[in-house]
Amino acid sequence: RRSRRRREAEDERKRKAAAVLEEVEKAMSTPTALLRGIADAMVEEMERGLRADPHAPVKMLISYVDNLPTGDEHGLFYALDLGGTNFRVIRVQLGGREKRVVKQEYKEVSIPPHLMVGTSTELFDFIAAELEKFVRTEGEDFHLPDGKKRELGFTFSFPVHQTSISSGTLIKWTKGFCINGTVGEDVVAELSRAMERQGLDMKVTALVNDTVGTLAGGRYVDNDVVAAVILGTGTNAAYVEHANAIPKWNGTLPRSGNMVINMEWGNFRSDKLPTSEYDKALDFESLNPGEQLYEKMISGMYLGEIVRRILLKLAHDASLFGDVVPPKLEQLFVLRTPDMSAMHHDTSHDLKHLGAKLKDILGVPDTSLEARYITLHVCDLVAERVARLAAAGIYGILKKLGKDKLPNDFSQQRTVVAMDGGLYEHYKKFSACLETTLTDLLGEEAASSVVVKLANDGSGIGAALLAASHSQYAEAA
Ligand code: GLC
Repeated sequence: RRSRRRREAEDERKRKAAAVLEEVEKAMSTPTALLRGIADAMVEEMERGLRADPHAPVKMLISYVDNLPTGDEHGLFYALDLGGTNFRVIRVQLGGREKRVVKQEYKEVSIPPHLMVGTSTELFDFIAAELEKFVRTEGEDFHLPDGKKRELGFTFSFPVHQTSISSGTLIKWTKGFCINGTVGEDVVAELSRAMERQGLDMKVTALVNDTVGTLAGGRYVDNDVVAAVILGTGTNAAYVEHANAIPKWNGTLPRSGNMVINMEWGNFRSDKLPTSEYDKALDFESLNPGEQLYEKMISGMYLGEIVRRILLKLAHDASLFGDVVPPKLEQLFVLRTPDMSAMHHDTSHDLKHLGAKLKDILGVPDTSLEARYITLHVCDLVAERVARLAAAGIYGILKKLGKDKLPNDFSQQRTVVAMDGGLYEHYKKFSACLETTLTDLLGEEAASSVVVKLANDGSGIGAALLAASHSQYAEAA
């Protein structure tokens, strides 16, 4: 009789697990018609942002970049890339059209977590000190002509209200940064003061968002790049807009007729977005509730956390990991997206790698095969949703650019979107799904002219290129 009771209890548990999964499947589903609606909402929000509607969630920030690199850039330039858990310092010797990048070196430094939530001065002092050390290692292959100052492109991957190509004030922090006193301040002035404190004689000649840097770096190697998308810790996009299609632009019309727009699409919101109970709870418990809602649905910082929340529900309601809910599963952000990706790519028949990861992360000694398969299924559902929602955003940009149809003029056949960010680069199932979804949305014919291309680390070199084209010695270059 005892065994019958056990069997009944087991059936009951399975029934509950199936019910939760069914509910999750529903919550994560993104039919193509819904994606089309999201893309249209994105286009509407882009237009609203370009009009400077004060309530527009998608800010459509003017970058002051009206010319993208041509290949003629020449000289020694530095770049500093700040925006995730690491920052990078880069130096590059540009050799003009023929020689291009003659030599390039970089150093990556992880930001101590306490600095991400500390004070502005501490953060900028730390960065400037690392930059100063890096400059000291400049070898003979790099050449700065006599009398010239070193110049720097500053990639600062947060929303900034630019006041010129080389100045701008921080609108808000995103992605887990939360530092008092920087909002409203000119970040170039902050960095410059910190550089001075280090005795570093260097001038910031370009302040750019990582999307704008990626666009510039992408264009340098491929003339058909018109947009850049970051899918990493955070997410965002930039693209080349006609200056006369930007009602809020009240400067003179640039000679090129163009202006690069930093969309800040992470803050996109729409009742078309399929917001689940997991998204709501995640937002509520985040550092910036109510902000960056699209980013919280599709970027690397939050993906694993969504999976954790679903697994927690399965553990509670259906004893997925045994009678006791593993205490570590209650911990915010304990499941990071790279771990999720590793589990998702386990192809062994008994999912032993996935099991080992779960053991590592949750401290559960053993997981049933069923629990592992369910975990895999959850990763699949979440990754697919995210990839499809991201594809809808990209499709929106292509629509806005009128590139969602096969061009009549065959000389303009390619449209290239430069992509960067760890999520896109490393999570293969994710990037594969993003690409098939985009093809789906565009239709085979139009899709044949659109190329999505990894522009690995384009943002650093892009910032150096923009520092070069905005050099105070530009005439001499
Ligand atoms: C966040 C930032 C944005 C950046 C993106 C990708 O959304 O607000 O400026 O481009 O992350 O790094």
